[in-house]
Amino acid sequence: MSRVGIIGSGHIGGTLARLLVDRGHEVAIANSRGPQTLEGLVAELGDRALAGTVEEVAELGEIIVVSTPLGAYDELPADALAGKTVIDTGNYYPGRDGQIPELDRDETTSSELLAGRLADATVVKAFNTMQSATLASQGRPDAPEEDRLVLFIAGDDAAAKRTVVELISELGFAAIDTGTLAAGGRRQQPDGAVYGAEMKPAQARAALAGGG
Ligand SMILES: NC(=O)c1ccc[n+]([C@@H]2O[C@H](COP(=O)([O-])OP(=O)(O)OC[C@H]3O[C@@H](n4cnc5c(N)ncnc54)[C@H](OP(=O)(O)O)[C@@H]3O)[C@@H](O)[C@H]2O)c1
Repeated sequence: MSRVGIIGSGHIGGTLARLLVDRGHEVAIANSRGPQTLEGLVAELGDRALAGTVEEVAELGEIIVVSTPLGAYDELPADALAGKTVIDTGNYYPGRDGQIPELDRDETTSSELLAGRLADATVVKAFNTMQSATLASQGRPDAPEEDRLVLFIAGDDAAAKRTVVELISELGFAAIDTGTLAAGGRRQQPDGAVYGAEMKPAQARAALAGGG
């Protein structure tokens, strides 16, 4: 059991909060409007959930999920997140996030921007390729790995990735490592090889081997 801090309580953050509580984890949740707006969600989730400010949730979580639009990255409390594993569910959508020239020129990836902002945290990109409705409903903790849907992970730190693999496995999905934050992050982004596809491990490995 871990205490997971979730920054962003929308489609993905809210879904992960429900799944994690169901699997026995404690969650602390924040959004942009403040903890008072999360009373309903916390009541639904029960004793294992609480709401806080972004700063409080960053302090409380042993593992932190950032599930906000990219514009929020600059406001995250880097000091409170130092030393933590930060799971980035984010994707770059210029229509929502505004044009970000270094992403438009493919000089870097959105998760590397977050990692640069949180220099003392360890960022793993995960939960960004699957629709929230699929995430909410398709976990199969009792199924063999090869029969589960895949959630992809990218990152530069093996220990942090193992932590995320364990979480994904507990939620009933199969984790597949796409590589570093730079190379794997590109494979996982909206124009990448595995974005948005519902795949089991064999298909996912083939898609990645196919040059993604
Ligand atoms: N939707 C999907 O199926 C899906 C799938 C995979 C990945 N993603 C990606 O995951 C990220 C989140 O997507 P989503 O669909 O979950 O978004 P969403 O439903 O719009 O929720 C975004 C959440 O972020 C919060 N937020 C915004 N700015 C913030 C700030 N400065 N500080 C703290 N919280 C802030 C919002 O707070 P309020 O509630 O107060 O507005 C909201 O709770 C995006 O990058 C998205 O592309 C989405």
